[in-house]
Amino acid sequence: MRKKVVAGNWKLNKTLKEVHDFAENFLSLAKAKELKQSDVMIFAPNIYLDKLKTLFNENAIIIGAQDVSEHEKGAYTGEVSAAMLSSIGITHCIIGHSERRKYHNETHDQLREKLIRLSENKITPVFCCGETLEERNNGNHFNVVRNQIMDSVLSLDKTVYSNIIIAYEPVWAIGTGVNASPEEAQEMHAFIRQLFTDEAGKDFAADLRILYGGSVSPENSAGLFEQNDIDGGLIGGASLKPEALHMILKNSLS
Ligand code: 13P
Repeated sequence: MRKKVVAGNWKLNKTLKEVHDFAENFLSLAKAKELKQSDVMIFAPNIYLDKLKTLFNENAIIIGAQDVSEHEKGAYTGEVSAAMLSSIGITHCIIGHSERRKYHNETHDQLREKLIRLSENKITPVFCCGETLEERNNGNHFNVVRNQIMDSVLSLDKTVYSNIIIAYEPVWAIGTGVNASPEEAQEMHAFIRQLFTDEAGKDFAADLRILYGGSVSPENSAGLFEQNDIDGGLIGGASLKPEALHMILKNSLS
């Protein structure tokens, strides 16, 4: 059985005081048993990672980064390396989020390098993929997602992506309040799992956790999480509110 993941992506949000308030409120809501049953992860801005580890770690909440440099080290002002993340105990990192692909023109080649850097530092990647509305309307969504995964993840040696988590996040569902229906999401998740079955083997695919992201809420999460191939959520807006994230966590418990 794959353990469900409830992962919050805070993006560019929260001051330090708000981080403290979130931690206090979320920990007062979430029961130890709930935190054991599903993996709860918070992907926060880098400057809060160390603080969040202190606030959350003994409660088994995983703290992760939202991106990593493709470079090992050197003259790359503003970047944060996988070795730096690892040196403060970070074990998980999002890469390939559609906002980075769009606003920072991230390419498949860069994502491949990032996957290698994360692997070198034993950090679990949460690899995002997903189509735009235009691509879906053109009936091109399966091709787009296949190419995103084939060109970055599956072009590498299996040892590089051995502990990967995939997040399917249709761009049209991110921050819009319009989530993919459970059936639409399940169809794509099954497609992704089949791709991994074909390329990485049946056992690997059976253990692979595939998260859905895009307007996940307390209201729609139960329906999404009960689908066979949906192993949890990558949650933006709703993860900023302790009550909403806790409701989503409760919906992930079987
Ligand atoms: P929303 O939940 O705000 O739609 O964001 C989803 C997302 O981009 C998570 O990475």
